[in-house]
Amino acid sequence: MFTSKVPVESVEKIQENIFILKAFSPQIASAIKPGQFCNLKVSETDFPLLRRPFSISDVDGDYISFMFNKHGEGTRILSEKRNGDVIDILAPLGNGFTYEDDYDTAVMIGGGLGAAPFPFLTRRLKNKKIVTLIGGRNEKDVTDWGLKNVFYSTDDGSIGFKGNVVELLISKFNDFKDSEIKIFSCGPTPMLKALQKFTVDNNIKCEISTECSMACGFGICQGCPIDSAEKDKYYLVCKDGPVFDAEAIVL
Ligand SMILES: Cc1cc2nc3c(=O)[nH]c(=O)nc-3n(C[C@H](O)[C@H](O)[C@H](O)COP(=O)(O)OP(=O)(O)OC[C@H]3O[C@@H](n4cnc5c(N)ncnc54)[C@H](O)[C@@H]3O)c2cc1C
Ligand code: FES
Repeated sequence: MFTSKVPVESVEKIQENIFILKAFSPQIASAIKPGQFCNLKVSETDFPLLRRPFSISDVDGDYISFMFNKHGEGTRILSEKRNGDVIDILAPLGNGFTYEDDYDTAVMIGGGLGAAPFPFLTRRLKNKKIVTLIGGRNEKDVTDWGLKNVFYSTDDGSIGFKGNVVELLISKFNDFKDSEIKIFSCGPTPMLKALQKFTVDNNIKCEISTECSMACGFGICQGCPIDSAEKDKYYLVCKDGPVFDAEAIVL
């Protein structure tokens, strides 16, 4: 883990409220793996004080990218960064996905900005079939940036399947009956909880990237506990996660 001052290359708006911030960092690019995250000091002043956690969305050569939507002060400041601005970044943080084990098809499931870690995972996966299911409230909530073989679900049916992304998975489940699949997921807790139930009940390999409010980002403040499936035990999302086996945690 290290901090570095990273120059911004560009900030691109790719959807009504979805941005990609690309920055030049050979150091982070060579150290980070899919599913890990970075803690960004979004401003050079002391406000906002706390760093903000963001998944690493892609690594292309010496460039790293973050995908975010603008909803608070930190993400507003990030959306206004320009070429040449510098961001102080703490990285690499967390554990990341385990994606090199034995299975045929990687099924990535993202709820809204839960899509953020998957372009990098897509880039790194070799010799696996990829299916990506992205869900949102409506078509403005979803993007296929950096993804492959994408199917959408939306609550209002404005694009793709009408319903949520777990219902979309269940509706497509027959397509996977002849191959061994592993699910990689990220998104809001209610979605992850429904997915966890489905995968545990059906004995499907599934990794879940969880989200919560964080302060330090590396296991010191104890501010990000999540219950373990083992009685009287808990994990820290920032240090032991954010990625967990679906069977290992209580959501
Ligand atoms: C490991 C990890 C990876 C993340 N990766 C991404 C990513 O790739 N892209 C992305 O857009 N966001 C990601 N997030 C969430 C992101 O860190 C927060 O949305 C961000 O801190 C908001 O900062 P802000 O100052 O704009 O909003 P704030 O002013 O801090 O919050 C604005 C509103 O958003 C709510 N909020 C803040 N954080 C969260 C959260 N984690 N989950 C749900 N609601 C929240 C607050 O309660 C408040 O209502 C990640 C979070 C974690 C823990
Ligand atoms: S954010 Fe401090 S321990 Fe996890």
